[in-house]
Amino acid sequence: MKGYNVAIVGATGLVGGEFIKVLVGRQFPIASIQLYASDRSAGRKLSFGKEEIEVKETSPQSFDHIDIVLFSAGSQVSHYFSPIAAGAGAVVIDNSAAFRMDPEVPLVVPEVNPDDVKSHRGIIANPNCSTIQMVVALYPLHKLNPIKRIIVDTYQSVSGTGLAALGELSNQARLVLQGREVLPHVYPHQVAFNVLPEIDVFLENGYTKEEWKLVEETRKSCMLRKSPSRQPAFVFRSISGIVRRYMLSSLTLFPRRRRGESSPRPQG
Ligand SMILES: NC(=O)c1ccc[n+]([C@@H]2O[C@H](COP(=O)([O-])OP(=O)(O)OC[C@H]3O[C@@H](n4cnc5c(N)ncnc54)[C@H](OP(=O)(O)O)[C@@H]3O)[C@@H](O)[C@H]2O)c1
Repeated sequence: MKGYNVAIVGATGLVGGEFIKVLVGRQFPIASIQLYASDRSAGRKLSFGKEEIEVKETSPQSFDHIDIVLFSAGSQVSHYFSPIAAGAGAVVIDNSAAFRMDPEVPLVVPEVNPDDVKSHRGIIANPNCSTIQMVVALYPLHKLNPIKRIIVDTYQSVSGTGLAALGELSNQARLVLQGREVLPHVYPHQVAFNVLPEIDVFLENGYTKEEWKLVEETRKSCMLRKSPSRQPAFVFRSISGIVRRYMLSSLTLFPRRRRGESSPRPQG
C-alpha cells in the first residue's frame, strides 16, 4: 500500500496528541511524519509509535512534499497556513472553525456525508465535536424520517478548550480544596466545582458562538434550542436532546423524565 507524507500542525496539543494516537493505532499508511507546533515547542520530542520525532516550528516551508496535513492549532493558524499548505499540493484536514462555513470548503463527517470530500479544493473541514456527535447519532434517524426540530443541551468537559484548561481545572480544584482564592485565566469564571452555562463568546444575536456553531453546522434543523455548558470534569462530552420528526414511525424518541413528572408523550 502507498504510504503518505503526513504533517500535523498543533501536534503538542490535546487534539494533536489524539491525531498521533489514531494514526498509530490504525496503522495509517505513513511514508513520513512531520510534527509542527509554535516556536515554544520547537525541539521537543514526541513519540510516534516506536519513533521519537522532533517537533518543528510551523513555517510556510513546512508543507513541501507533504500529502496530508492535519491542522489543530486554532483558527488563526489554520487561516494563515492552510492555504499555503493547499497551495503546496497537500490536502488539508482542518479541525478548527476557520473554514467550516466557507462555501468553497466541504464540511465532512465521514459517517454522514463522505461523498462531499470529493468536492474539495485542497481544504476539508470537520465540524465542532458536539455537532459531530449529534449528527452521527441523528443522521440514520433523519434518513428514515426527516427531522424537523432538535432541542439539544451539551455537557462538555474542559478538555474541549485544550491543554491549558485541563491545567486550570486541576489548579483551581487544588486551591478550592485548600480554601485559597481562585483567579480564572482560561475561563471568565471559576470552573472547579462549578458549571459554566456558556461556551465561547456571546454573539450579537444573544447566542454563544458554540451554540451558533451547532445551529449552522448541523444545517438540517429548522429550529434548534440548546444550552451548551462547561462542566468541572477533565475529559468527556455528552449531549441530551429532544428530536421532533415530521411523522411518527415505529421509531419513537422519548424526552427524559424528571422525577415526579408524568409519563412522557412521544414526540410527533
Ligand atoms: N480539544 C478538543 O476537544 C477540540 C475538539 C475539536 C476541535 N478542537 C480544535 O482544535 C484546535 C486545537 O485544540 P487543542 O484542544 O488541541 O488545543 P491545545 O491543547 O491548546 O493545543 C494547541 C496546539 O496549537 C499549537 N499552536 C498554538 N499557536 C501556534 C502557532 N502560532 N503556530 C503553530 N502552532 C501553534 C500549540 O503549540 P505549542 O505547544 O507550541 O503552544 C499546540 O500544539 C482548536 O482549533 C480547537 O478549537 C479542539
